Amino acid sequence: MQHNLAIFASGTGSNAKKIIEYFKHNPNINVCLIVSNKADAPVLDMARTNGIPTLVIDRPYFYHSEDILNFFNQFSINFVVLAGFLWLVPSYLVRAFEGRIVNIHPALLPKYGGKGMYGMRVHEAVKAAGETETGITIHYVNERYDEGDAIFQAKCEVKPTDTPDEIAQKIHALEHRHFPAVIEELLEQK
Ligand code: GAR
Repeated sequence: MQHNLAIFASGTGSNAKKIIEYFKHNPNINVCLIVSNKADAPVLDMARTNGIPTLVIDRPYFYHSEDILNFFNQFSINFVVLAGFLWLVPSYLVRAFEGRIVNIHPALLPKYGGKGMYGMRVHEAVKAAGETETGITIHYVNERYDEGDAIFQAKCEVKPTDTPDEIAQKIHALEHRHFPAVIEELLEQK
């Protein structure tokens, strides 16, 4: 089966980049589209450098129309990856891609999840709580922030001296190591 991925990202897109590189020579898995809610997000430059089509969305388009489904049809998109995408996925999209949308979250869900918990905010909260470990969660996406079924978790140590920036670096390393391989494994089962 041919797997055609759309990756949603709001910012730098280091995870999106790792996924693109990982699947570059895989004949069955194509990253076909990068979607962002920010017209100036660095992830869009990275996509263009890699020759991958991009789509910039705004709230009316995403929440008050279902046009993105038609757009996806043009690329035969059949799997969606959220990699640093900060908007809630609308229910029409969750329904259309039931079991075929995954997200990565930079903490051990259900801890440090939910609306407003993203990026550095997560690492600052982990630090403030004096946690001795944190990690990543890859999970299916449903209509609530960070609540879909977990697929994979990996942990790392938090030292008392670690700053939120240092925690972020450890988390990114874990994400880059695991996210593409977990996606590949999921797709191989389909
Ligand atoms: C990643 O750490 C990802 O887990 C997080 O945003 C970062 C994006 O980094 N996502 C969330 O916080 C979602 N709630 P990147 O743009 O370098 O891939």
